[in-house]
Amino acid sequence: MEVTADGCPVEVYLLLPAAGEPEIVHGALAPGASILELGCGAGRVTHPLVALGHPVVAVDDSAAMLAHVRASTVCARIGELDLGRTFNAVLLGSHLINTAVDGDRSAMLAAARRHLGPSGRLIVEWHPPSWFDSVGSGQGGAFGEVGVVLSDVVREGDLLSATVRYSARGRSWSQEFTCRCLELETVLTSADLVFDRWLTADRTWFTARARGGG
Ligand SMILES: C[S@@+](CC[C@H](N)C(=O)[O-])C[C@H]1O[C@@H](n2cnc3c(N)ncnc32)[C@H](O)[C@@H]1O
Repeated sequence: MEVTADGCPVEVYLLLPAAGEPEIVHGALAPGASILELGCGAGRVTHPLVALGHPVVAVDDSAAMLAHVRASTVCARIGELDLGRTFNAVLLGSHLINTAVDGDRSAMLAAARRHLGPSGRLIVEWHPPSWFDSVGSGQGGAFGEVGVVLSDVVREGDLLSATVRYSARGRSWSQEFTCRCLELETVLTSADLVFDRWLTADRTWFTARARGGG
């Protein structure tokens, strides 16, 4: 079984359907806007974005994930990425910004920043503070044919650790993770970015732009 460096089972990401993410991203952008997708996985969001007319460059550090992506791909750590070009939008989804490793977050945001065109937008999916307050063991649901259940939720300061268990086709996988509750303005300012707007009413998606950008 292939598992990424951050513990994502590749088979699970091949079975999980998109759940509205491509439409949120598409709705925030001009038709045909170019997108740099950071942490694309197996292309769950990439493929619908391409179908919606966006040229996407999809980045992941898992070759096993990228083998399934039908778009232009780059196998790299996000923080080390330097493609020497900019995009209309940089997509940082899947709550990657909530990493507990502050240096990784800074490096990811710096990479996003250097790939943003003058009027480009960074599109982020994050866990807002309200999620940290409300999330608990036993929560989950069905996503396509994949059952998802959270367990072993432990809070310690601004960190939250948990295990997510996936089940499908008579098999199961589990992934442990730790994430950090963030003060958004501080995080964006330190990356030379400014908040732009919320994309969803639950404030799990937002856009940011380069400070001084259009
Ligand atoms: C939770 S999965 C989500 C995949 C995809 N965004 C989706 O929604 O289906 C996170 C992906 O990000 C990748 N990833 C995490 N941290 C990364 C990093 N620092 N550099 C490159 N890829 C990373 C993992 O390999 C994995 O494929």
